[in-house]
Amino acid sequence: MREVEVREASLLKYPEWIVWIVSADGTGRVNIMPAGWSMFTSHEPPMYAVSVGHDRYTHALIRTGREFTVAFPSPGMEKAIQYCGTRSGREEDKVSGSGLRLRPATRIKPPLVEGAVVNLECRLAAELETGDHTIFVGEVVAAHIEDNAPGRLLNFGSGLYALARPAPSS
Ligand SMILES: Cc1cc2nc3c(=O)[nH]c(=O)nc-3n(C[C@H](O)[C@H](O)[C@H](O)COP(=O)(O)O)c2cc1C
Repeated sequence: MREVEVREASLLKYPEWIVWIVSADGTGRVNIMPAGWSMFTSHEPPMYAVSVGHDRYTHALIRTGREFTVAFPSPGMEKAIQYCGTRSGREEDKVSGSGLRLRPATRIKPPLVEGAVVNLECRLAAELETGDHTIFVGEVVAAHIEDNAPGRLLNFGSGLYALARPAPSS
């Protein structure tokens, strides 16, 4: 064993889940970013947490709009992940630039991602400051699944994504 910089150790975390975080401004203009740092945090009520950098446009939109969608990307979305994860919605409309298709959510303003394995409609319930990121915890007020999606993508790092097969249902 050898001691290293934390950065070097953190690069060995892959594979990692990825999710879409979809948010909207007051006029309904939508923004979307991929995030690796996220998790379910409660069964009852159902809660999902995402960790968003202070400088992300998504951060400002969740702070003001207090709602966001979390979606699990499926195969075919690899290019959109790279695109939306390297540009800011402050400067451009990433929805049209990425080619992602959206549809209205049922309970919140930010829309759902067509073709994603899972879409979770979240209302902001809590926030925790963690250094240069904020953990936004959303109560999941509605959930949707895509029965025909082959499974969700995993991030293997360096822009490499692969399919993770869903566990067989019991
Ligand atoms: C695979 C991947 C995972 C990422 N994970 C996170 C994350 O967990 N949290 C975060 O704040 N940014 C993450 N990012 C970076 C944001 O997606 C990126 O900064 C994005 O441009 C922010 O967009 P926005 O300014 O429109 O909100 C990730 C990027 C990629 C490509």
